Amino acid sequence: MTFTTGPINGKIIIAPSILSADQWCMGKQIAAIEQAGAEWLHVDIMDGHFVPNLSFGPATVSCLKKRTALPLDVHLMVQYPGRFVEPFAKAGANILTVHIEAADDIKKVLLQIKEKGIKAGLSIKPDTDPARIKPFLPLLDLILVMTVQPGFGGQGFLPSSPRQIQTVRELVLSGGYSIDIEVDGGINAQTARVAAQAGANVFVAGNAIFAAEDPVHALKQLRQAVTI
Ligand code: DX5
Ligand code: ZN
Repeated sequence: MTFTTGPINGKIIIAPSILSADQWCMGKQIAAIEQAGAEWLHVDIMDGHFVPNLSFGPATVSCLKKRTALPLDVHLMVQYPGRFVEPFAKAGANILTVHIEAADDIKKVLLQIKEKGIKAGLSIKPDTDPARIKPFLPLLDLILVMTVQPGFGGQGFLPSSPRQIQTVRELVLSGGYSIDIEVDGGINAQTARVAAQAGANVFVAGNAIFAAEDPVHALKQLRQAVTI
C-alpha cells in the first residue's frame, strides 16, 4: 500500500517517552533531549488493570513539571481515567490522553479534562475500530493511535498501524477538524517515516531514543526521517 498524504497539520512533534529512560539519571537524559529540540515529553501512566504493568504517578509528573519546560504529554493507560484527571491536572500535565476502551464515561472524562484547560487526547488500541472516535471529535486536540498493544516499551510496530492511522486521518479531515495524530509503540526512524506517510504528526519514541547509545543523535535521526 502506498500513502500519498503525509503528516496531518504539517507540524512535526517528537515526544520521547520516559518509560525507557534510566530512572537513575533520568534528569540528565531529559535535559539532553530538551536541549536537542524535543517538543514534548511523553509520560506513560499504567494501573496494572487496563494494562498488565505499572509505571509512574502524579508525583512523577509534578517533579518533571518543576525540572523541565517541555510540555508533559500524559498517556493514561488506566481503567478509570475520570478518577485521575484532577491529580494529573494539579501535577502539571499539559496533554491528558485517555483510552476509548476504558471503563468510564469517555465524553464526561474529556469534558473534565477540557474544563481544566488541558489538551484532551483520545487513544485507540491496535484492534479498536477508529470509527468509534467519531462522536468525540469536537472535544479532541489529539488522537493517539497505539502502534503496539499498550503496556510495555520495546515492542515492534504492528503492520496494521498505517491503515489505522490513515483511517483516523480521513475521519479528522472529513469532519473539518484540526487534531494532532500521535503514534506510540515501536517508533524508530524507519517506522516513524511509514507513520508520517500515513498521516501521523506526533511521534512518541521510548527505546529508539533512551536506549540508544546517543539519545540526541537518535532524536535527530527520527526528526530527519519524518521530515518528508
Ligand atoms: C507503551 C507505551 C509507550 C512506550 C513506547 O504502552 O505507551 O509510550 O514508552 O515505547 P517504545 O517506543 O520503546 O515502543
Ligand atoms: Zn504511551
